[in-house]
Amino acid sequence: VLGDAARGADPLIRPSDHADFQANGVLPLAKAVKGNPRELATRVAAVLAPIADAADEAGAGAGAAGAEAGAAGSAEAEAGGTGSAAAAPETVPTSGVIAAVEVAGPGFLNLTLTDAALAAQAAERLGDPRLGVPPTAVGRTTVIDYSQPNIAKEMHVGHLRSTVIGDALVRLLEFDGRTVLRQNHLGDWGTQFGMLIQYLVEHPEARPAQAEHSGEAAISWLTTLYRDARALFESDTEFADRARKRVVTLQGGDEESLAAWREMVAESKRYFEDVYARLDVRLVDADAVGESFYNPYLAEVAADLEKRGVAVWSEGALCVFFEDILGPDGDPVPLIVRKSDGGFGYAATDLAAVRYRVNTLKADQILYVVDSRQALHFRMVFEAARRAGYLPEDVEAVHVQFGSVLGTDGKPFKTRAGKTVRLIELLDNAVDHAVATVEEKNPGLPAADTRAEAKVVGIGAVKYADLSTSRTKDYIFDLDRMVSLHGNTSVYLQYAHARIHSILRKLPAGTETRVHPELALEPAERKLALHLDDFGATVATVIENFEPHRLASYLYALAQTFSDFYENCPVLKAPTDAVRENRAALVELTGETLKLGLALLGISAPDQL
Ligand code: ARG
Repeated sequence: VLGDAARGADPLIRPSDHADFQANGVLPLAKAVKGNPRELATRVAAVLAPIADAADEAGAGAGAAGAEAGAAGSAEAEAGGTGSAAAAPETVPTSGVIAAVEVAGPGFLNLTLTDAALAAQAAERLGDPRLGVPPTAVGRTTVIDYSQPNIAKEMHVGHLRSTVIGDALVRLLEFDGRTVLRQNHLGDWGTQFGMLIQYLVEHPEARPAQAEHSGEAAISWLTTLYRDARALFESDTEFADRARKRVVTLQGGDEESLAAWREMVAESKRYFEDVYARLDVRLVDADAVGESFYNPYLAEVAADLEKRGVAVWSEGALCVFFEDILGPDGDPVPLIVRKSDGGFGYAATDLAAVRYRVNTLKADQILYVVDSRQALHFRMVFEAARRAGYLPEDVEAVHVQFGSVLGTDGKPFKTRAGKTVRLIELLDNAVDHAVATVEEKNPGLPAADTRAEAKVVGIGAVKYADLSTSRTKDYIFDLDRMVSLHGNTSVYLQYAHARIHSILRKLPAGTETRVHPELALEPAERKLALHLDDFGATVATVIENFEPHRLASYLYALAQTFSDFYENCPVLKAPTDAVRENRAALVELTGETLKLGLALLGISAPDQL
């Protein structure tokens, strides 16, 4: 229609309620060539219409032949549609993809696909472990900083969010072909260690009994140690002095201090690993690259920033200033690289980490899965790193922020006594809650099996509740809702998946799950096929915006669409063998899509529940 003007233009095709898809691309195109959008849309439709007519004929005559063309011709049709569109109708490939074109509104095109094209899409993905979604980022490297709990401290729900979101992103990015380097930026350095080490040195009896080595025992003695050391630090000025001196000896590399520090790190890791194992997240010891790792580089980074004029001395501290980054009172807030007491802090460590991640790890994308309260910190770190040349233009740095976890009362999530909720306890609670769900669904199950299933259901529920809400929003931690069989929960999805497998097991012996492209589809079958077709596009948006909740919404809608299909289109009692095989193929593809989708979120979906 437009020749060169249209070459490479995005047709902006989106799923639509009025037809299968709507193409909105004519509007920007009309603007570009200063044409009338409706008129232009009519002309594009006229070019597409013969394809629809040809498909009609093919459908009426040799159905199978038309369908074959559909299977092979979808890419061709696309090229023909945008490229050589000015050609005579006869030369437009009769792909059998488009069944109807209609101009709507100011110049939209409503597109309806042929059943054969939908069938061909389904057939292509069925049985493919990637469900037809190609990896798009092979050869690229992401460094992802997530989980980040603090040594000698309880992990809190913020760390839980970071761990769960980070783990889902790792799986999604790896699926996209990226090399993903996990960095658990442990809070394992800082002045608080002076107090802890000093206490441990003075009170060797404060160590745990050798025999106790569960993660729970580890965190329990660390919590006690922290509490006792802090109390002494606050009440005994001489101890406080010794603790401050201990910070200096630790930083000077004193062996006794380092040994006590290592001991606390090891005990904390025992606890973190216990939590990670329960959560089934992909974090191992080698991923623990804590703040202490960057300690040897801090002085050099500070000197370098000063030399480059990025950081300047102000009131005794080495700072980076930003005109455009203002604090709450409207004054510019500085990023402090070196404090007036000579110590380096959190920001210096993050600057050294950026340098390491770019220069040594060769990242072209660095993600920080950290709560939104640190937004200002990361804005300043990224900007300072850009100025210093540590973060080149072609390396993307993103603060993947998330909101807070709230209790059912809408206030920050705490125990009734107002304390931090212990993570292991929280996960145990979730499993206990899930026992009731499993019993409701499967009353006769032996206790041990119930427990095993409750683990899958309960842990999945905790993760899914987090991942299914838009990450920047706060969400309410409500176990009853999380483990419910109804609504947008992982439990609903896991049972939908298990039900699919039970349907497949009941198919008459010898039934193949096979797409029959010659069959006309019922509305519920079409709807399901169309939704299945949207999986790849959904995954692509999720990866682009780091928004796992879009995948969760997709899966929930898929399970609902499936349920509608299953109500309206009998599978086991299908009218013919071909229809049964075709429907069984849709059932199987739905199962595979649910399983892969949940796996990308870090949630398992057993075939039997
Ligand atoms: N350990 C910190 C905390 O518990 C989070 C660290 C985030 N990562 C980073 N590179 N600063 O708040």
